Amino acid sequence: MGVGVITIREFEPGDVEAALAMEEVAQPQPWTERIFNDELSAENRTYLVADDGAVCGYGGVMLMGDEAHITNLLVAPDHRGQGIGRRLMIGLIESAIAEGARHLILEVRSENEAARSLYSRLGLAPVGVRPGYYDDGDALIMWAHDIDSAEYAERLT
Ligand SMILES: CC(C)(COP(=O)(O)OP(=O)(O)OC[C@H]1O[C@@H](n2cnc3c(N)ncnc32)[C@H](O)[C@@H]1OP(=O)(O)O)[C@@H](O)C(=O)NCCC(=O)NCCS
Repeated sequence: MGVGVITIREFEPGDVEAALAMEEVAQPQPWTERIFNDELSAENRTYLVADDGAVCGYGGVMLMGDEAHITNLLVAPDHRGQGIGRRLMIGLIESAIAEGARHLILEVRSENEAARSLYSRLGLAPVGVRPGYYDDGDALIMWAHDIDSAEYAERLT
């Protein structure tokens, strides 16, 4: 259960340990410490955490040209349904737009209804399937175009 004020802030190296623990319980293909460290030190990335005194969610985005790719998004199971995933996504999208992104792309497990619904509400539409992308299933590719437009900005308010 979530308590208190939730802040969205930059992911710091000291957050890796908490994120690893969350990956282990909540991700079918958990990221390793090495992946987190590589990502945090790589160019053109933004990683954010949700913090209510402890890390309760995180996500990342990678910028390639004018395309922003969501690399990871996770909210602790006992903190879901409180708008934290949406707040993290908005923070990542706003950061990507500030860095020059015009399009947003991500892969999501086809059967991941919660994530698909979150992404649809943020204007992402399915554009294709990558069969066998995950060990245990297919990925749906979702896109949003013109995220630097005034129309898109309205979606984030
Ligand atoms: C997907 C995930 C990040 C959503 O986080 P969250 O904080 O619970 O989401 P929010 O509370 O911000 O919900 C935002 C929207 O997502 C959708 N949503 C969230 N949980 C949902 C659920 N269980 N069923 C259907 N839709 C859901 C809704 O559209 C919701 O909007 P609404 O509250 O106005 O109806 C979270 O479920 C999670 O960490 N899942 C496991 C990891 C994962 O799947 N990551 C994405 C990988 S691509």
